[in-house]
Amino acid sequence: MKVRLAPSILSADFGRLTEAAQLAEQAGADLVHVDIMDGHFVRGLTFGPQLVASLKKKVKLPLDVHLMVDNPWDIIPLFLDAGADWVSFHLEATPHLHREVALIKAHKRRAGIALNPGTPLILLNEILKDLDYVLLMTVNPGRGSQPFIDSCLDKITRLSQWIAGMNLEIPVEVDGGVNLQNLERLVQAGASMIVAGSAVFAAEKPAEVIGRMQDIARRVERP
Ligand code: DX5
Ligand code: ZN
Repeated sequence: MKVRLAPSILSADFGRLTEAAQLAEQAGADLVHVDIMDGHFVRGLTFGPQLVASLKKKVKLPLDVHLMVDNPWDIIPLFLDAGADWVSFHLEATPHLHREVALIKAHKRRAGIALNPGTPLILLNEILKDLDYVLLMTVNPGRGSQPFIDSCLDKITRLSQWIAGMNLEIPVEVDGGVNLQNLERLVQAGASMIVAGSAVFAAEKPAEVIGRMQDIARRVERP
């Protein structure tokens, strides 16, 4: 499966988010990851649908919108209207997984479910085959620049094997603490959507890091 790189603008200068997304595009990223935090589901507070609508006009890359919010059902339509291409919401935030997934898919966007590090994979059992991707948090959500939680590596492997065993092709997105040092191991474990925030935008030369991450991904991606 092709590995897609999704730089997260959470670690970019909030006064220059468009430039950050354009930089990612020019440097060869595959998606732009946009972290939506509501101050309730997580303590952080970030962007709303207006930012997504504005980015949509200025970059061609698909927008990968990660909703770290309570009551996703109420909020998803705002982001669909704004032009989000990939939309994930948290399993821990709603008892109505199927309903939210169906809403996103009815608008012909890719639907993903995000899991916190401590949330067991088995909770995806009834919904996995309906998903366009699964986002595995590899830090506790809420802010950037946290270290990768090592026990999550095994979770990536187990989810990838489960998906392959069902003869499905569902990308596993990995989000949190990804850097140039651990990327190879993550792709080998089966990650095929890679989010990187601080590793890219806190670096001196973000475009160079994107290029190097793409090189690593190309080298180890499975046929
Ligand atoms: C964290 C967000 C991540 C964040 C990752 O709650 O979901 O997307 O941007 O940042 P890094 O790559 O710095 O861990
Ligand atoms: Zn994210």
